[in-house]
This record gives sequence, structure tokens and C-alpha cells, in this order.
Amino acid sequence: MNTKGFYVRMRLLQNNTRHYRNADKSNFCSRYFKWILWFSLSFYFFSSFLITNNKPTNSISRNTVSKTKHSRALIEELSLLKSTHNPQDTLKGMKVYVYDLPSKYNTDWLSNERCSSHLFASEVAIHKILMNNNDIRTLDPWEADFFFVPVYVSCNFSTVNGFPAIGHARSLISSAIQLISSELPFWNRSSGSDHVFVASHDFGSCFHTLEDVAVADGVPEVLKNSIILQTFGVKYKHPCQEVENVVIPPYVSPESVRTTLKMSPLNGRRDIFVFFRGKMELHPKNVSGRFYSKQVRTEIWRKYGNDRRFYLQRQRFAGYQSEILRSTFCLCPLGWAPWSPRIVESIVLGCVPVIIADGIRLPFPSSVPWAEISLTVTEKDVARLGDILGDVAATNLTSIQRNLWDPDVRKALLFNDPMVEGDATWQIMVALSEKLDRSHKKSSVF
Ligand SMILES: *[C@@H]1O[C@H](CO)[C@@H](O)[C@H](O)[C@H]1NC(C)=O
Ligand SMILES: *[C@@H]1O[C@H](CO)[C@@H](O)[C@H](O)[C@H]1NC(C)=O
Ligand SMILES: *[C@@H]1O[C@H](CO)[C@@H](O)[C@H](O)[C@H]1NC(C)=O
Ligand SMILES: *[C@@H]1O[C@H](CO)[C@@H](O)[C@H](O)[C@H]1NC(C)=O
Repeated sequence: MNTKGFYVRMRLLQNNTRHYRNADKSNFCSRYFKWILWFSLSFYFFSSFLITNNKPTNSISRNTVSKTKHSRALIEELSLLKSTHNPQDTLKGMKVYVYDLPSKYNTDWLSNERCSSHLFASEVAIHKILMNNNDIRTLDPWEADFFFVPVYVSCNFSTVNGFPAIGHARSLISSAIQLISSELPFWNRSSGSDHVFVASHDFGSCFHTLEDVAVADGVPEVLKNSIILQTFGVKYKHPCQEVENVVIPPYVSPESVRTTLKMSPLNGRRDIFVFFRGKMELHPKNVSGRFYSKQVRTEIWRKYGNDRRFYLQRQRFAGYQSEILRSTFCLCPLGWAPWSPRIVESIVLGCVPVIIADGIRLPFPSSVPWAEISLTVTEKDVARLGDILGDVAATNLTSIQRNLWDPDVRKALLFNDPMVEGDATWQIMVALSEKLDRSHKKSSVF
């Protein structure tokens, strides 16, 4: 067993590690810190227990009060300890091995700074965060439940329009699979079913930005057994999700959000009633029978362009996050695909997302109570937006905001590095741990 692990490590040890080296130190510190925290808390509760129990009997009522207070605090602290202390319980001891591919498959693209910050950058973030993790990640593929294959396909920005060109995605992924399956035994062992990929652009595992082409191409044959982490998700049958998949949030930089939040608290003044900034074509082009945003954005512009409650902007503006922070409702209409980074940005900046994308499947439904923190307006009702939002503002807006401003909800959609329990990468790991029946290691144990 050990010699095999050693052989694999030698085989794949390449220059990639230099990019993600600082991990071990910080992990050591945090582990050490947890023990000190645990020790001091135990000491605190032990001594307060002695004190409360040594009081004379005439102070019973006060004693009871302080005791309940303590025990509530104790329960809270213990659950905190339990959760920070042994995250592996939730993840059932799951281990993930990250392939060390030649840099042309991934880190070479990072020479363009946009590669790790744009809306498709979860493919970079998840890789980087796993490399910095020593609890879930294993260096020994023989002990892994899942195999993460880090290929960045969304960083080939077109010089013409600045959008990512993903025409090379299929061949880059095939070539990576060719490499790992010829050099190591793990792909062949499971036909890739315990291997995990990220497909973070419009139509995910179909690797095309136009739905009709994406649908016609379908999921590449070579990926059909694997697990795809993708931003695309709908509740109905769709060729681009005919593969084991987990819906993940689009990437929004946690640093940019933190910077914006310094400007104003979540419950501060929101002087914009309805906000949208983005592409709103007045006369959308018919692109092989489809119209951008199914003309929903055009309809919004036509109907509400002159409505003073609506702050609608069609130009790009780098400071748009500060506008979200000033807004009560943020419109999140579909584009070419149903999903949008606006949903994440609205939530983390405390603006109630108004999701207009029929049938969309949203990330992490067991952790994020979507119905309680957002509004859904069907595409055909878009002309009634004004009335609908007016009604909500007059009735249950405060309760939606209260749910929305829950830190746990806001945490679940951001990719922190290092990973924080409850954040987006954590949620992905939880979703993977629910697929452990695909793990070769687990199935060979039983
Ligand atoms: C980048 O995209 C263009 C257009 O799809 C393609 O011709 C080119 O080969 C890609 N570059 C790489 C290195 O894959
Ligand atoms: C995996 O299968 C392919 C195709 O059958 C074969 O070419 C390759 O050598 C196999 N890999 C290993 C490590 O045996
Ligand atoms: C859009 O173009 C397609 C051909 O590409 C045509 O069949 C269809 O009727 C057009 N739709 C509209 C609403 O103009
Ligand atoms: C708020 O009201 C709207 C419109 O009546 C309803 O669809 C939504 O479910 C309500 N949300 C909450 C959290 O009560």
C-alpha cells in the first residue's frame, strides 16, 4: 500500500505544488489554535460550574437564572466546538485526491489575472482551496474516495469580445483524461465514476455558450460517468445535466464583497427600490431561433425604463456592488443561461434577489432556504413586476430580509480560501459525501 502511494507521488510530483505551497503552515496554526480554544473553554465551564454550585441556598433564583444562561452558552459553545472540531463527522471521513496535472491544463492560464476572478472562476477557486486543505485532501490516491481533475477551461479570453472562448474545452479535458488514465490506474478502475470536474460556464457539462449547440453536442462521452460541478441547473430534464452533477454558485470574489460591505452595514439605508445593471437589448437579435434572455430584459426595459422606482442601467460600471448594497430588490433575470452571478452578489450584499428564470435549479437547497430569502417571478409575469414587488414591500419584505441577512445563508455561496465550514466549497464537499456509494474505496470495504 505504502509503496504504491509512494510510486504515485513520485510519478506525479511536478512543478504545480509551488503555486499552492503556503497551505501547511496555516493549517498547523489553526489546528493548534483549536486545541487552545477547546482547553480554555473547558476550563471556563468547569470553573463556572464549581462557582455556581457552591453558592449558598438563599440565592436559588439568581442561581437558576445564571445557570440556565450558562448552560445555554455551554450548549452553543459545545455545538460550535463540535462543528469546528470534527468536520470530518459531517463528511464521513471522505478523502479527495487532487491530480497534479502539467501546468498547461491549469495554472498556466493564471498569467491572466482575470482567470481567477471572473464569474466562471470557481474552476480555479475549488482547485486552489483543495490544494490548501489538509483535512479532506489526501496525498495518497489509494486512500481517496474521489479524484479531482483540475482543468481550467474558461480562461481563454477572446481578444475580440473579451468573453471566454471555450471551444478548446472538450479537447483539453479529453487530453487530461488520456494522461491520467494512461499513467495511473484510478480512472480505468472506476471508468471515471469517482472523478470530479468543474464546468462553470453557461451550459456546464455541454461546453457551449449557446443552448441549441450545447444541447446538440451534449455531455462529452468521456465525462458521462463522472461527477460534474456546474453552475447550470434546471428542474426539468435537460441534456446538459444528464450526468451526475452538483449545482454550484458562480464565482464572486469574497474580497470584493468584504470591501463593499465596509461602505455600509447590511441593514443600512437602501434608497434604491429595484436595481438592475446589465445587458438589456432594445431589439434583441434572433440567434438561431433564440433571443437573449428570452426577451425578458427587453420587456423589463420597455415597461419600467421610465418608472422612478426602478433603477435600470445598461452600461458596465465597476462599482456596481455598491449599488446592490443600496438596493432593496435586485433583479436576476436569465441571460443565455438561467443562472447569474447577480443571485450570489444580491444575497451576500443583502439585496432581495428577484429570480426571473423559469425552472432554474439553485445551489445547495438543503442549506440555503431559497423560498425564504428570494422572490421568484415567472418569465411571463415580468410585466407585473412593479405590482408584485410593491405587494411584497407592503407585506413580508422585513421577514424576507431577516432570513436573507442570516450569516449562514450568506456564507454558503462564497468560496473562501482557506475553506470555512459552511461555505461554498464546504457545501460541495457535503454534496460529494452524499455520493460516497460511488467511491471505489468505500465499496471495496463493504
Ligand atoms: C483558445 O481559444 C481559441 C478559440 O476557441 C482556440 O483556437 C485556441 O486553440 C484556444 N487556446 C488554447 C491554448 O487552447
Ligand atoms: C486504461 O485503459 C486504456 C484503454 O483501455 C489503456 O490504454 C490504458 O493503458 C489503461 N491504463 C492503465 C494504467 O492500465
Ligand atoms: C428566428 O429565426 C429562425 C431561423 O433562424 C426562424 O425560424 C424563426 O421564425 C425566427 N423567430 C422569430 C420570432 O423571428
Ligand atoms: C412573501 O410574499 C410573496 C408574495 O405573496 C410570497 O410569494 C413569498 O413566499 C413570501 N415570502 C416569505 C418568506 O414569506
